[in-house]
Amino acid sequence: MTISTPWWRDAVIYQVYPRSWADSDGDGIGDLPGITSRLDHLVDLGVDAVWLSPFYVSPQNDGGYDVADPRDVDPLFGTLDDFDALLERAHGLGLRVIVDVVPNHSSSEHAWFRAALAAGPRSRERARYLFRDGTGMGGEQPPNNWLSSFGGPAWTRVTEADGSPGQWYLHLFDTTQPDFDWECTEVREEMESVLRFWLDRGVDGFRIDVAHGLVKAPGLPDTDLTLDPLRDPTGLQPMWDQPGVHEIYRAWRRLTDSYSVPGQDCDRILCAEAWVEPAAALAHYVRPDELHHCFNFHYLMTAWNATALRHSIAESLQQANAVGAPQTWVLSNHDVVRHASRFGSGEVGLRRARAATALMLALPGSAYLYQGEELGLPEATQLPDDARRDPIWERSGHQVVGRDGCRVPVPWQADKPGFGFGPTRRTWLPQPPVYGDLAPDRQRGVSGSTLELYRLLLRLRHDHRLGRGDLEWAATDPEILRFTNRGVTVVANFGPRPVMLSPEAVVLASSAADDDVSTLLPDTTVWLAT
Ligand code: GLC
Ligand code: MG
Repeated sequence: MTISTPWWRDAVIYQVYPRSWADSDGDGIGDLPGITSRLDHLVDLGVDAVWLSPFYVSPQNDGGYDVADPRDVDPLFGTLDDFDALLERAHGLGLRVIVDVVPNHSSSEHAWFRAALAAGPRSRERARYLFRDGTGMGGEQPPNNWLSSFGGPAWTRVTEADGSPGQWYLHLFDTTQPDFDWECTEVREEMESVLRFWLDRGVDGFRIDVAHGLVKAPGLPDTDLTLDPLRDPTGLQPMWDQPGVHEIYRAWRRLTDSYSVPGQDCDRILCAEAWVEPAAALAHYVRPDELHHCFNFHYLMTAWNATALRHSIAESLQQANAVGAPQTWVLSNHDVVRHASRFGSGEVGLRRARAATALMLALPGSAYLYQGEELGLPEATQLPDDARRDPIWERSGHQVVGRDGCRVPVPWQADKPGFGFGPTRRTWLPQPPVYGDLAPDRQRGVSGSTLELYRLLLRLRHDHRLGRGDLEWAATDPEILRFTNRGVTVVANFGPRPVMLSPEAVVLASSAADDDVSTLLPDTTVWLAT
């Protein structure tokens, strides 16, 4: 028997940022037992899988994306037994579990990096990272002009064992996140062994951190610093989207495919975090022998505008179709401003966020949700400076606030201390007071609440198999998007005026809490039975 449509082609995957989802032991930091205790929420919501951001041993200089031991759980989050219990419970509930893999860099606390520092220049230990001699007199200038994505230079000079100023090592992110050298065979073997470690434990896939950064241009040439690192077309910058990354992912795909069982819908999947433009270059990552998914950041970055969104959706679908991959859709994650605040502030922001989600969940392909968006949580914009933990804050000299505002511990119960985040009132970042009103126990069963809207959309999406459908666009209008997918007509109003719906229209779902179904109000998306 063959599986006609594997699960990942239309899956809805919910991202949990472990520090901030649920705390079991009262230290104010979310943990694995906390996650296990709250998995029912995901079943109730109606998602297919959960993706966990890193919970590995780490000094936590970048929220765990600085991994010191990729084969063990940081005591902050629990133990390997806690992980096994989480996986077993999730699978028992019918949820798949995806974990993060961080192949571009390690923590400076990783045993390999410590060994590299100790071993000295031109050693086998240093060959696993990108150590280079400096330039200028006495090597006091960095090897090239690259900058860290978090601000400041991408190179740090080490002090050699004899106390002399020594070589420099590359870190595209924080100083404590040295980049691996993927030309080194040991690095390739080690990372495949890490994948096997988690696959053998039973995980259903991986989200690949900085997937476009592993291979650097030969010779590490200077970059053009006038280019915007995020928005520039493929391959122009020597540290991003180099052709050599694809060979790595072909090897990884062979590895995950070796875990598939014919006739069973049990594929283990790979999803790239690759900030690559244009869409055609990004689609290279999801060719049939490479990865299953890549985040569609172009869609995430598209403004709340009918023309721009239509173009972004059509182009994304076309590029994914060209390589036979499902398109993926995403609006929020732990690195960007929550979409309830990104599209506008206050009421307007939430209204547009709900309309945007209703639009996204009607699209064919797979969708990623970020914890708390189903509650309509806004970005926390009033964090005290001394509470900030994102390394971007320090590295930018306090110019860029960074990403803490989307990582605030989520609320569960309005009347509990810390809004029920854990058994004590402790939360590693302070929660905005409005999070209390948005706790699930205030929204569950309340018609028109954001939580009930997500539940309804996910149920209808599943029942109509929208993730496996096809889009048919209706006549263009600069302020209205209208398309049909599997018998569901989706209409979104981006303009300032209400739009009359046909009197025969049967409204299946509306992103607005309003009862009037004869008109489509501004910043609203409806799903109609065709
Ligand atoms: C990815 C992660 C981000 C992290 C960075 C460095 O972009 O999503 O949170 O800071 O990689 O690992
Ligand atoms: Mg805890």
